[in-house]
Amino acid sequence: MSANRPAAVVVLAAGEGTRMKSSTPKVLHAICGRSLVGHVVAAARALDPEHLVVVVGHAREQVAGHLAETEADVRTAVQHEQNGTGHAVRMGLEELGRDGVALDGTVIVVCGDTPLLTGETLTALAATHATDGNAVTVLTAEVPDATGYGRIVRAADGAVTAIVEHKDATDAQRAIREINSGVFAFDGQLLVDALGKVRTDNSQGEEYLTDVLGILREAGHRVGASVAADHREIAGINNRVQLAEARRMLNERLLRRAMLDGVTVVDPATTWVDVTVTFEPDALIQPGTQLLGATHVAARAEVGPNSRLTDTTVGEGATVGFSVTDGAEVGPGASVGPYAYLRPGTRLGSKSKAGTFVEMKKADLGAGSKVPHLSYVGDATIGEQSNIGAASVFVNYDGVAKHHTTIGSHCRTGSDNMFVAPVTIGDGAYTAAGSVITKDVPPGSLAVARGQQRNIEGWVARKRPGSAAAEAAQAALQEDEGDK
Ligand code: UD1
Ligand code: CA
Repeated sequence: MSANRPAAVVVLAAGEGTRMKSSTPKVLHAICGRSLVGHVVAAARALDPEHLVVVVGHAREQVAGHLAETEADVRTAVQHEQNGTGHAVRMGLEELGRDGVALDGTVIVVCGDTPLLTGETLTALAATHATDGNAVTVLTAEVPDATGYGRIVRAADGAVTAIVEHKDATDAQRAIREINSGVFAFDGQLLVDALGKVRTDNSQGEEYLTDVLGILREAGHRVGASVAADHREIAGINNRVQLAEARRMLNERLLRRAMLDGVTVVDPATTWVDVTVTFEPDALIQPGTQLLGATHVAARAEVGPNSRLTDTTVGEGATVGFSVTDGAEVGPGASVGPYAYLRPGTRLGSKSKAGTFVEMKKADLGAGSKVPHLSYVGDATIGEQSNIGAASVFVNYDGVAKHHTTIGSHCRTGSDNMFVAPVTIGDGAYTAAGSVITKDVPPGSLAVARGQQRNIEGWVARKRPGSAAAEAAQAALQEDEGDK
């Protein structure tokens, strides 16, 4: 448990985010496999707060629905009209109050659109707040361009006296580059009292949370600030340019951590990972690779180049190149691609192979078995050490229902086979090239299911006289005569 466990964290996520130009609410846009508000909630969890409440307003059903699905323990409070950040916090605290939560202790306020904010920064803010005995501590940052932000006004002795919104600031105040990140630590009781005194006589006619600072200071309480080490961490997302920038920064952070933990990332600029992806040391990631969802890459496995793996487990020493996988399990030492597509329910045993232009779905390939070329394997169980000939299709669909094919161990099936499911090939059986297998094959048998070959001699000379083919045939036949 964290030393400065807050009573509550309030996440503000009621704003509309019009500049996203999207039918999706801003805070539900995702980077690195998690929504913007999801990232903020994850950072807030580092504080181990007693209560976590997200204030929703614009598209509140969608946002609340998303939270109910992904963050079951988070409460939501509704702000029906977006009357300002102070009003939003008031709605959040009133919701907790209705549930009988007493706000004895610290209340942290964060915005729902700052996905790069870390738990470390919040923990540092909470620590400063506690150590300095402040009524309020604001997280600030020095930014290159402060346009649009609230400015931190300090007295000659450095004490924070007020936050002035850009729209309400004088020219002298607009020259200040230290800005309000929108993240605060408050004494809960003092916050509740001060919010009751916030007025709306400003350029936007809103209840500004920032006014709480001046109110508390005038009442003789301590007001402090904590300066963020990296201003980029507190950047809010307003448009899709900023969304892409944040995605790249978060991705870099995730890859940096992986590399420091022993993963080789050949080209971090073209490697994209979700926050949920895990690695073991000496995994090797080649350029142009996306690793998504619950993907795990084990030690000495090599993934990429140019691959997308979703919810896929790659075993020790396995390789996956130029391929797309989803919900697949690639066993140790197995080989996938180039140009394979593994769909949900595919399980490749150790040292098995799904080769070039191979698609597999709900297929279990035993240890050492191979599907090397140009094949579709759907709804199948294949034993160990079997080889599936090139250009084979597991005919699993009769137009209405899917059926299963079982192939035993140590089988050698010919090229260009159709396995018309449901069908079973016994251990050690062979099938002839070009066979359409519709009946079960007993262990150790050779199944041949194709038309017999018939050669009609002299057909070209008779039917295509004078053609190049006829001349070539005649020359070859004469040469054969001469050899005799
Ligand atoms: C706010 C701060 C400003 C700070 C900036 C940092 C105030 C008055 N100003 O300005 O000092 O530099 O954030 O990004 O606090 N929200 C609601 N309900 C509302 C209004 C806002 O939930 O009624 C939420 C928004 O969804 C957003 C956050 O509060 O997550 C900040 O709102 P926004 O409108 O972006 O505030 P700014 O005007 O940028
Ligand atoms: Ca605003």
